[in-house]
Amino acid sequence: MQLVIHNVSKKYNKSKYGIKDFSITIENGILGLLGPNGAGKSTLLKMIATVSKPTDGIITLNKNNIIKDANYMRKQVGFLPQDFGVYPNLNAFEFLEYMAAMKGVGGENLKMRIAQLLEGLNLIDDAKKPIGTYSGGMKQRIGIAQALLNDPKIIIFDEPTVGLDPEERVRFRNLISDLANDCIVILSSHIVSDIDTIADQVAIMKNGQLLTYGNQENVIKYVENKVYEVIIEKEQLSVFKTVHIVVSTSRKEGRLLVRYISEKPVDMSKSKQANLEDAYLYLIRTN
Ligand SMILES: Nc1ncnc2c1ncn2[C@@H]1O[C@H](COP(=O)(O)OP(=O)(O)O)[C@@H](O)[C@H]1O
Ligand SMILES: [Mg+2]
Repeated sequence: MQLVIHNVSKKYNKSKYGIKDFSITIENGILGLLGPNGAGKSTLLKMIATVSKPTDGIITLNKNNIIKDANYMRKQVGFLPQDFGVYPNLNAFEFLEYMAAMKGVGGENLKMRIAQLLEGLNLIDDAKKPIGTYSGGMKQRIGIAQALLNDPKIIIFDEPTVGLDPEERVRFRNLISDLANDCIVILSSHIVSDIDTIADQVAIMKNGQLLTYGNQENVIKYVENKVYEVIIEKEQLSVFKTVHIVVSTSRKEGRLLVRYISEKPVDMSKSKQANLEDAYLYLIRTN
């Protein structure tokens, strides 16, 4: 599978772009799409899923122009939109049957497929209860299930871990790893820890632009040998922040342990192994 986004822009009105001149080539594997709110993640994913059209540029899947031939994409894509809504009066089984009919997924195996998905997403015990009675995490898992009904080869989940508790996140992670063979999987998030343990590739975007794209090791290289920890007084923090990029702080014996990124570390600092969170903050703050 090869998905090419070439010079794509989405202009919402006279001066407002969702994304601008955006290019990226995505191949099989799990891509984590990271960016703060408003970065343009949903704008991009909706266009890939063909529920919105670019104002400029080309998107191809395996060399097929999906702006002209949306059905080529639609047959193969599974999409969980960020604002996914459910019908509260249907139970999980009924809702998935309904979604299957909408997508033209049928056949004698459908019931088994639905049961498998409900099992895999830990919803089988509640499958006969109306979805309106579900928790946020359960509704989110229904959204994930509907995206997988047609055995998609390209799976797009927009902020899938929102509302999931830690245990549900682990299940989700395992499910994704099982799916990922011969598929393109794109997961968006504004939280690094949601994707850093599952994503092979990482793309970081801000203000409708791609800041970096590559495997995690390469993205982390931006901050290699620039991450430190030091203990400072609480009162020093605001000034410290004007000079260095502070990743996190924690209290330590009445003082503050600060993890920060800098070219010029202060005295007494300890060098730390850089991680994706460091690189993300660095790129977002310096762009
Ligand atoms: N329908 C719309 N009309 C006007 N502006 C929009 C619309 N949808 C999104 N935007 C703007 O486009 C930018 C990118 O939004 P979005 O793609 O939702 O970002 P993200 O998903 O990364 O939070 C934001 O500035 C947002 O306000
Ligand atoms: Mg979004």
